[in-house]
Amino acid sequence: MKMDGKTVLITGSTDGVGRYVAARLAAAGANVLIHGRDKERAKSLADDIRRQGHVEPTFYPADLSSLSGARQLAEAVLADHQRLDLFISNAGIGSRTLGAERRTSADGHELRFAVNYLSGFLLAYLLLPAIKASAPSRIVNVASLGQHPIDFDDVMITRGYNGGRAYSQSKLSQIMFTIDLANELKGSGVTVNSLHPATYMNTTMVREGGITPISTVEQGGEAILHLAVGDDMAGRSGLFFNGMHEAQANPQAYDPTARKRLRALSLELTGLA
Ligand SMILES: NC(=O)c1ccc[n+]([C@@H]2O[C@H](COP(=O)([O-])OP(=O)(O)OC[C@H]3O[C@@H](n4cnc5c(N)ncnc54)[C@H](OP(=O)(O)O)[C@@H]3O)[C@@H](O)[C@H]2O)c1
Repeated sequence: MKMDGKTVLITGSTDGVGRYVAARLAAAGANVLIHGRDKERAKSLADDIRRQGHVEPTFYPADLSSLSGARQLAEAVLADHQRLDLFISNAGIGSRTLGAERRTSADGHELRFAVNYLSGFLLAYLLLPAIKASAPSRIVNVASLGQHPIDFDDVMITRGYNGGRAYSQSKLSQIMFTIDLANELKGSGVTVNSLHPATYMNTTMVREGGITPISTVEQGGEAILHLAVGDDMAGRSGLFFNGMHEAQANPQAYDPTARKRLRALSLELTGLA
């Protein structure tokens, strides 16, 4: 992997699999823009990378539980960079983060939908001019095998809330967005793919869910890097991968009507309409 001269942004890189991917990309020579909320964890990652003799990453703090946080992040990145070779939308919360009860974002949207999906949707569109300017360039959406179809009559899950369903709905939304964006970007030189990195990696999200980890961040990280920089992925777009292998997502992902509804709703909720 040679990333000299390449600029990459990976959200949620202060911890977990994002931290691993950021360190690997920095070691390959990339100028890595790291993101999260926790300054201390960001500093420890930046120190590690610098100590190993690689380009020190720049930390862009932003809370993605508000759309204004996502907008501020995009503005800060675009103020410093006109080109972005790789955008990995990885920041996320689990089914039990902040407890088992339903929670809402600063904008009043169901929290898992907001953090895991809507903020990444908004970021991708706001960053697109810089990503297009770097074509051939790539977007990777870190989703999951946990997928639940969207009930368009109750997208914010106001009835019968369950954290697992909320998480899985947000992850399927990322996959549906990936397919749409890939279609939209045909011919632009920008590809976009999504994946399930690995099952129950040993990360904060998994541990706080009370789940015993069964995979390592290295396994999931290598799957993300495959989509991000793999030679065999050049020109391939709109796909979903389970780890290293192409896979089928929940059937709703392949329903153009459902994707159209999600897209219209997302444009409206993010103010991009
Ligand atoms: N772990 C698994 O087994 C697994 C399986 C399938 C898919 N995934 C997906 O992989 C991605 C990474 O998960 P992980 O397991 O590495 O999680 P993690 O260790 O809990 O790390 C989550 C990252 O997201 C950031 N983040 C969380 N909430 C945020 C917010 N409101 N605003 C900004 N940043 C926020 C955190 O930053 P701060 O701590 O600095 O706020 C952290 O860097 C997620 O999208 C997850 O859904 C994970």
